[in-house]
Amino acid sequence: MSKKIIILALALLFILFMVSRFTRKLTFFEVSKAFERPQAVTVPDGLESVSAEECGLCHTDIASEWKTTIHAHAWKDPYFRVDLKFDGSMQVCLNCHTPLENQQENLVLGFYDHEKLDPILAPNPNFDPALKNEGVTCAVCHVKDGQIVGPKNVQTKAHPVRKDKRFTDGSGICRRCHWIMGDRWDVFLKLPPCGNFAEIEETGLKIDCVKCHMPKVTRPMVAGGEDRAGHRHLWRGGHDKDFVKAALKIKLNEPSAGTGAGKRYRIALTNTGTEHRLPTGTPDRHLEVAFRLFDNENKLIDEKIQFLERVILWRPFIVDLWDTRIKFNETRTYEFEFSMARNPPPALLTAEVKYGLLHENRRLRIGYENTEPVRYRIFYEEIRLK
Ligand code: HEC
Ligand code: HEC
Ligand code: HEC
Ligand code: HEC
Ligand code: HEC
Repeated sequence: MSKKIIILALALLFILFMVSRFTRKLTFFEVSKAFERPQAVTVPDGLESVSAEECGLCHTDIASEWKTTIHAHAWKDPYFRVDLKFDGSMQVCLNCHTPLENQQENLVLGFYDHEKLDPILAPNPNFDPALKNEGVTCAVCHVKDGQIVGPKNVQTKAHPVRKDKRFTDGSGICRRCHWIMGDRWDVFLKLPPCGNFAEIEETGLKIDCVKCHMPKVTRPMVAGGEDRAGHRHLWRGGHDKDFVKAALKIKLNEPSAGTGAGKRYRIALTNTGTEHRLPTGTPDRHLEVAFRLFDNENKLIDEKIQFLERVILWRPFIVDLWDTRIKFNETRTYEFEFSMARNPPPALLTAEVKYGLLHENRRLRIGYENTEPVRYRIFYEEIRLK
């Protein structure tokens, strides 16, 4: 009798535990010191404000580049806004997407919980809605303790300048937001959730994000100034078709003529340009490789589609299922076989590679009604069959 009660109680506990695993708020990252709170900023002497508008009065080239980037859109980005709401508008998201204290409506006074996901909030009297729209703005990276921090220590009357070594090691500035750890008891991931750093570490190369994401340029640092060695503020990534395309070498061929009516085609994709994986970043990103076969009336008669992506099981525990993204210098091949003897006879073979920012099922689940495409073609070839 008592044995039965124990078993029943254990079963009930197990069910309650599983229910909680399937209904809890889904967080997969550890909130580290680097981004647990918004960043307080003091306006440097000589400047009126820390807005990009103001920096852009003198640093015109850099400001006009920055404006075109996803950093400048980290708050306006419609995908982010929908996802933020879907995730219950957690405050912690803002600490990377609108990181400055005055970009946020509330101050963070402390935390109710150990995990730092439930902050104690109070209205922020200095909240600046225009600054919030600037997302990851100049001051996020360049203002510290009331001074402008940068790579060079150039002296100017415009504002105080201090050299900061996080600017000269190629990645120190990026780490705070692009290095998210999953060190939690319920997370069993082989790489951190957004693993740019860990993916480069695996290759043994020195980690240098700036060399690719902020290419070198010689130009005046301020309008009318002297030429200096500097860096373009571009940060291109998955939203930029040409940038992605340039990092991939794609080749389609027919490895051997095959026997009889049998045909075999092979597509080879080599990651020649990223050092991290391709795609990288959030696990939403993927490549889609598709072979399609048409008859001579252009009717689809067969297709084969493969995804290159990182697939994670989110519930009940967070576990890597598989990862078919391409490592740096790695070549991945896919083959497609068919018979010419089928009816109707094949007349055309197409091979297509697309880059996707997110999957259709996720887009629908979070209710993101995109006005810009969420996937685009980076390779396409046709072969007439005879
Ligand atoms: C009134 C003009 C003016 C404004 C406004 C201004 N700057 Fe500057 N800044 C300068 C000048 C001049 C230099 C030195 C350029 C040179 O010597 O070629 C400079 C240098 C810099 C440097 C280089 C520091 C180094 O040594 O690496 C950074 C970074 C910088 N500014 C960032 C900013 C940011 C961020 C803002 C806005 C918060 C801003 N500046 C606003 C004029 C300005
Ligand atoms: C204060 C936080 C923060 C810092 C610091 C930061 N980033 Fe970002 N970065 C973001 C956020 C947030 C996004 C995504 C914005 C969005 O899509 O809504 C992003 C996006 C990107 C992208 C993706 C572009 C795309 O098209 O998807 C690249 C590349 C990137 N950052 C590179 C860098 C590099 C290199 C550094 C260091 C020099 C850096 N970032 C520093 C927050 C940051
Ligand atoms: C995500 C972080 C980030 C943001 C946002 C950012 N910068 Fe920079 N900036 C850097 C890094 C990193 C370097 C240094 C690259 C190096 O020297 O390796 C740099 C360099 C500079 C320099 C020195 C000259 C040069 O071209 O290298 C100036 C001036 C500057 N930034 C101004 C600005 C202004 C103005 C804005 C806003 C319009 C801005 N930055 C936004 C990270 C950032
Ligand atoms: C050798 C060049 C190179 C280096 C080094 C490099 N990247 Fe990239 N990065 C790329 C290319 C090319 C892409 C576009 C293809 C892709 O998404 O993998 C990219 C894409 C990205 C994206 C966009 C992902 C998205 O969601 O759209 C982020 C974020 C990023 N890189 C961050 C970093 C960070 C952080 C570092 C340093 C730790 C770094 N990268 C180092 C070339 C590089
Ligand atoms: C530690 C900093 C950080 C935090 C916290 C953070 N993000 Fe981000 N977020 C980033 C960076 C960096 C990127 C882009 C690079 C990438 O793909 O890895 C990004 C990209 C995104 C994107 C993709 C945007 C696009 O245009 O494709 C969405 C959506 C997003 N974040 C939503 C959220 C939500 C919702 C939260 C809160 C639950 C959150 N983020 C918390 C740093 C952060």
